Amino acid sequence: MVREGRVVGRGWTQAGGRPHAEAVALEMAGEAAHGATLYVTLEPCAHASGRGPACADLVTTAGFARVVAGVRDPDPRTAGKGLARIAAAGIATGLVPCPAAEASLAGYQKRQREGRPHITLKLALSVDGCIALASGESRWITGPEARAHAHLERANSDAILVGGGTLRADEPKLDVRLTGLEARSPQRWVLTRSMAPKGWNALPSPDHLSAIDAQYLLVEGGAHVAAAFLEADLVDRLLIYRAPIVIGGGHPGIADFGLADLAAAHGRWRKTDTRRLGNDTLDVYERFRCSPA
Ligand SMILES: NC(=O)c1ccc[n+]([C@@H]2O[C@H](COP(=O)([O-])OP(=O)(O)OC[C@H]3O[C@@H](n4cnc5c(N)ncnc54)[C@H](OP(=O)(O)O)[C@@H]3O)[C@@H](O)[C@H]2O)c1
Repeated sequence: MVREGRVVGRGWTQAGGRPHAEAVALEMAGEAAHGATLYVTLEPCAHASGRGPACADLVTTAGFARVVAGVRDPDPRTAGKGLARIAAAGIATGLVPCPAAEASLAGYQKRQREGRPHITLKLALSVDGCIALASGESRWITGPEARAHAHLERANSDAILVGGGTLRADEPKLDVRLTGLEARSPQRWVLTRSMAPKGWNALPSPDHLSAIDAQYLLVEGGAHVAAAFLEADLVDRLLIYRAPIVIGGGHPGIADFGLADLAAAHGRWRKTDTRRLGNDTLDVYERFRCSPA
């Protein structure tokens, strides 16, 4: 919330979904919101709930001069109605396409549009693309900086998944081991055709993703799970940590997923980030093709 070039209110939607960002920022701005411009990532909602009022009404009552949103809300209860209600109250409105706003809402949009979480597949590989020795040993491929980065990725996810093979081989805890972020450990899921052990949830197939109540899912392998998600075209983002070690004859990072020819492999991913993490390298790729609108 900006008035005369000064930020008078700032807020974000709280854990659990309420209060919404607008209510939080208005709490801070108070009377200063009158005549100000409101910049929001997501269109203010048009639907009230037992947990809070419609943001479109809050915004109208607060007397803003202008409201600018970066993304139209795909929730059918709002979907354009939020901005329309604000405009009907005589407030100038604008929808300005904003890649940063889109990116910050990737999980929410995936859930709303496709009924599944946004999915990141993370793998730690050797130079020759292995995730483990032929014996199955895989601890550790990457160094402490790369592993700390991966823990931050866990903290930013609501759910985390490995395959039954990895669960049996490694008995991973999949918790966040970063000081101060321990409470951000996500729900644990295992892709398996069997029962899940205590403290885990079982996903019987990648086709059942709607069962995972999350906006962001981190898939941490192994090779057959990676292949199953890629084959089903469910990976939105790839995190490839690569260590300067050569294994030779180990477990390939991604099992066969029935690729017909090389042409089918091209044009699917674009690299969006690359960085050094200690002795390792992280490459981030995002899905190239747009998801259905
Ligand atoms: N370096 C790394 O980043 C990394 C990460 C993870 C794992 N690893 C290593 O990778 C190795 C394990 O990899 P892996 O390929 O053998 O096993 P995996 O991919 O972890 O798990 C394979 C299992 O997942 C389940 N599964 C796979 N596709 C499925 C589908 N379409 N529907 C339902 N269930 C499905 C089955 O579980 P059930 O048999 O239970 O039905 C299958 O046996 C271990 O050595 C581990 O240490 C390395």
